[in-house]
This record gives sequence, structure tokens and C-alpha cells, in this order.
Amino acid sequence: MRRNKILVLAGMTAFVMLGVAAVQAPHQQERNLKVLPKDISDQKLDSIMQTYNKALGVKCEFCHVKKKIFPGDIDYAADTEPMKEEARKMMRMTIEINKNNFWYNKSDQPEYLKTVTCNTCHRGDPFPEGH
Ligand code: HEC
Ligand code: HEC
Repeated sequence: MRRNKILVLAGMTAFVMLGVAAVQAPHQQERNLKVLPKDISDQKLDSIMQTYNKALGVKCEFCHVKKKIFPGDIDYAADTEPMKEEARKMMRMTIEINKNNFWYNKSDQPEYLKTVTCNTCHRGDPFPEGH
């Protein structure tokens, strides 16, 4: 009798755990990152994005599109806004400038170097002029 109860309990526990796993799975979606390291923390990603807003004097929507079904939400992983790909070019350029021209500790990831940053050129302007 007791043994049966334990078996039933174990079965129910496994069922609940499977259910939890199924609900959580969609949240662990892979990020759509082509320049920044895939293992970047949410905090680091957020602080880098904040520097873009500041350097270019824009809002997140300058590079990111709103969701079709929930226009109140932004679809950060979508590549629909062409400005996002332009920004990727700028990110690659900035990484190259730092990596190739300035001293850095080789154990640091080049993506996180900030001798030259977006703000070095932009100074709050999305389209700075070269004169
Ligand atoms: C100047 C353009 C630009 C601005 C402004 C910008 N982003 Fe981004 N964001 C990008 C680019 C480019 C990527 C993709 C980077 C890559 O491919 O490595 C990205 C990626 C992201 C991602 C990762 C999405 C994924 O694939 O999971 C998040 C989250 C994000 N941005 C949030 C923000 C937030 C929040 C703001 C405003 C505070 C912001 N971004 C402002 C260009 C921008
Ligand atoms: C070495 C200087 C320099 C750096 C560093 C730099 N930019 Fe730019 N960026 C420019 C110039 C100059 C323009 C204007 C180009 C034009 O008008 O054709 C520009 C234009 C842009 C544009 C508008 C799209 C375009 O191609 O015209 C975006 C978006 C942008 N930069 C994002 C960034 C981000 C994000 C960073 C940091 C990761 C960054 N830039 C770093 C010089 C720079």
C-alpha cells in the first residue's frame, strides 16, 4: 500500500517536472547575434545597447522593429530594420579599430574593447559628418 503511494507520488512529480520544462523551453530561445559573443550576459548586452542610444542620440527603435502582433513590444532578435545591419558594420569596424591599433590585454574579448567607441565619432549624432 505504502509502496504504491510512493510510486504514484514519484510519477506525479516527474509529470509536473516535464510540464515545467515544456513551459520554460520557448524562453531559452537562442539569440540572433552575429557580432557580439553568443555567451554575452543579459546585463552586458543591455549596457552595450544603452551606449548605442547615447552615442547616436536615438531610441532602441532606431535599429529595432516593433512586434506585429504586440506593437507595444519590440522584437529585438528581428533583422527587419535595415539600420540594424548598418550598425553591425559599424560594430565590426569599431572592433577592428581597437584590435588593430591599440594595446589591449589579449585575454580580453575584442568585442568589449572601448578605446575607440561609437561615441568617439558620433557624439550624439546618428549621421556624423567627416569634416
Ligand atoms: C544603433 C543600432 C542599435 C540601437 C540603437 C540598439 N540596438 Fe540592440 N542591437 C543592435 C544590433 C546590431 C544587434 C545585433 C548584434 C549582433 O548581431 O551581434 C542588437 C541586438 C540586441 C538584442 C539581442 C537580440 C537577440 O537576438 O536576442 C537586444 C535584447 C537588444 N539589441 C536590445 C536593445 C535595447 C534594449 C536597445 C535600447 C536601449 C537597443 N537594443 C538599441 C543594434 C542596436
Ligand atoms: C571611426 C568613426 C566611427 C565609429 C567608431 C562609429 N561610427 Fe557609426 N558612423 C560614422 C560616420 C562618419 C557615419 C556617417 C556615414 C554616412 O553618413 O554615410 C556613421 C553612421 C552610422 C550609422 C547610420 C548608418 C550609416 O551607415 O550611415 C549607424 C547606425 C552607426 N553609424 C552606428 C554606429 C555604432 C553602433 C557604432 C559603435 C559600435 C559606430 N557607429 C561607431 C563613424 C563612426
